[in-house]
Parts: sequence; C-alpha cells; structure tokens
Amino acid sequence: MLFNETVITGIRVKNRIIRSATHDGLADENGAPCDKLIAKYERLAKCEIGCIITGYAAVSKNGVSPYPRMLKIYDDSVIEKYKELTDAVHRYHTPVVLQIAHCGRQTSTRAIGMQKVAPSNVLHTFYPDKAKELTDAEIYGIIDDFVSASVRAEKAGFDAVQLHGGHGYLLHDFLSPYGNRRKDTWGGSLENRCRIVELIIKGIKEKTNLPVWIKLSAEDNRKGGMNIDSSVKICKILEAAGCDAIEVSCGTVQDGMNTMRSELMPMDAVFRYREPCASFPKLLNKIALPAANLVNPLIKQPKPLENFNVDNAAKIKMNVSIPVIVVGGIHKTDDMEKILFEGKADFVSMCRPFICEPDLVLKLKSGQSEAKCIMCNYCGLVIEKEPTRCLYGKIKHE
Ligand SMILES: Cc1cc2nc3c(=O)[nH]c(=O)nc-3n(C[C@H](O)[C@H](O)[C@H](O)COP(=O)(O)O)c2cc1C
Ligand code: SF4
Repeated sequence: MLFNETVITGIRVKNRIIRSATHDGLADENGAPCDKLIAKYERLAKCEIGCIITGYAAVSKNGVSPYPRMLKIYDDSVIEKYKELTDAVHRYHTPVVLQIAHCGRQTSTRAIGMQKVAPSNVLHTFYPDKAKELTDAEIYGIIDDFVSASVRAEKAGFDAVQLHGGHGYLLHDFLSPYGNRRKDTWGGSLENRCRIVELIIKGIKEKTNLPVWIKLSAEDNRKGGMNIDSSVKICKILEAAGCDAIEVSCGTVQDGMNTMRSELMPMDAVFRYREPCASFPKLLNKIALPAANLVNPLIKQPKPLENFNVDNAAKIKMNVSIPVIVVGGIHKTDDMEKILFEGKADFVSMCRPFICEPDLVLKLKSGQSEAKCIMCNYCGLVIEKEPTRCLYGKIKHE
C-alpha cells in the first residue's frame, strides 16, 4: 500500500510518502528559489518521493519569517524562477505543492522592517515586539494576498497550494482561542475564528483550479488553545468550505520542541545558532555551554517522540472525507504501513528524515527498515542563521 501509485486531490503520486514542508533557507533576495534549492528538490523527485511540499513561502511583506532566505511569493517577478523549480520536479513525474504562509506574530520588526501584525496582541516569548491588531480592511488584504499568491503558484506550475494553518503562524493564531482574543466577526465563536481560512479557501477556488491543502496543529499546548475536539470541528468547517486535504501536525514555535520532538535540547546548536547565546563571548560560552548540558536532561520534553500526531490524525480522519496526511516522528516502514493499514491516515509525511537522507524513499523501497535521522534537532537550529542541513555528527561529536 505504502509504495503503490495512487491519487491525492486529483494529483497522481508514485507512493504515499510526502516530503512535509521544510524551510530550506535557499531563496534569493526576492524570495525566488535559487538553483541550489531547485537541485535539492530535483534530487528528492529523482529519488521517487511521492510528493514534495515546499518550505513556507510568505504571501505578504509583513508576513516574512525571521529566518534568512525564506521563499516569498508576493510579487509576479518570482513566477519565472518558481516555474523552473516545478519543471525540474515534474520531469520526474513528481508533484510539488507550494506551502503559503503569513508569519503573523512569529516574526520580528527587525526582520520585516515594519510592525508585525496578528489577530490579537498576545506576547510571544521568542519574538516579544508588540503586534498590531489587524483591522477589518487589513484582514481582507491578507485574504487577497493568499489568493494572489495562489494565482502565482498556478502560473508557476504548482500542483496544489498548502495553507500553513499550524505552528503558531497567522492562520493558526486566528483559529486558536489562545492567539485570537477578538470579539468581532473574526473571533469568539469557532465559526468566527475559522472565517479568514474559509474565505481564503473560497477565494483560491474562485480564482484558480488548484487543490487547496492545509496543515494544522491539532493541539498546540497553549492555555485555552487548540485541542483535538475543536480541531475536528475546524476540519469539518474547512472541508465544507472546499479544503481538499489536511495535514495533521501539532505545536507552535513558542512550544520549543513540540512540533519536532527530540529527547534533548540540542544545546551545542543553541549556543551556535540561537541569539542571544550565539553572540555570547567565547569565554562565557565555555562556561555556559557545559552548564546548559548539565541541566539539559532535567528539561522536560514533549513525549512520545515517534508517530506523535497519529492518534489526532485518526480522529480527524473519522470525521472528514478528504485525504488526511500525518506528520511527526514517523521513521519506520512498519509504522508507516500500520498507519495506512489501520486507516489512521491516507498519507504519511516526513521532514527531518529527508534532510538527513534525500534518497530515503529509494532506501525504504529496497529494504532499509527505518530512517537514519536520530531526531537530534540540530537542523532546526541551523536555520536561524544558515541554509538547512543535517548537522548530525558535525557539531555534537566534533
Ligand atoms: C529545518 C526545519 C524546517 C521546517 N520548515 C517548515 C516549514 O517551512 N513549514 C512547515 O509547515 N513546517 C516546517 N517544519 C516542520 C516539519 O514540516 C514537521 O512538521 C516537523 O519537523 C515534524 O516532522 P518530522 O518528525 O518528520 O521532522 C520544519 C522543520 C524543520 C526541522
Ligand atoms: S540534524 Fe540530521 S539527524 Fe538531527 S534531526 Fe536534523 S536531519 Fe535528523
């Protein structure tokens, strides 16, 4: 079943293994994919991945990530280069889906050169500058930005778009009562909180022929935030609005390592890539890093580490009839087969395993039983300063 050719939202795929959206840090200054990124995706396609979801691409100038060299799609000038990317991937008969996003509160004034925006001004631990509460007109502007980005995605040859509705970004903030404290038509009831996403889906459907997927954090570990019961209701509303597929994830950037789980905080990487630690004087680092490593085992990390969104995906799948994709700590062929066989999801997706082994699908097909990625999360820190890469064995053991 796992390796059989099938169809998702009208798109033919070679198997049920999807590369989940991964910020690669390889866009040029305008947000267009650079040649290295095209080559990276081409390699994944050549190695028989079922489908590639790109890293998140910003739909608005004020929705850009603080991580360097993010993809952007708010300008027609980038369409040509994106077309090169889709052509390269399509040569291997592999579909490619553009993930579109607005970072909302999870960015900084410094990164975007203006005040950041959000449904409500809720303090973000990592990005503490004050967010401007969006006006009605600005919300409609952002809806238009998502629709225009999708029109560009269609012109560039993408097979679908995926809305980034999870991980604490703007759409997640609207959906979640934690991030959305509004009392107007965009907040309060579940129906109101879903309105922006519903209007985006309907707008994209009106202006393009692209399937619209969404990635959601079914649970977000925030007080009063998203939980599986409300997520099931949200998924039903979004399905009725025309959403074509749902990818089930969890957590927010604020959660630390909930979305991408790890046994321990990757302290060496924190001290190398995360501010303010990265700018500590070398002498201070010599004392602070061993001290941090000493307390590291005492820091409680979210559990389980493997297959951690499967139960939530199954609950969502029981309540919708569109395809459900599950991501998060999926590593072993046996687990993938079991998830599909038991009907807990229709497709499995992975992020870190493909950073580590871009040829993973070929290896699994030829009998390797599990991915080599050890879920150390060093790659999740390197993106704060440099292009994404697997650092296993490169800094921890040097
Ligand atoms: C380096 C890195 C970049 C990521 N970039 C994105 C992204 O652009 N969009 C997104 O939805 N999730 C992103 N994620 C989260 C992953 O898609 C995925 O949900 C998470 O890592 C759990 O899956 P895994 O256990 O297979 O890695 C990223 C994760 C990592 C480690
Ligand atoms: S650094 Fe490499 S081994 Fe560690 S989580 Fe990332 S991809 Fe996996």
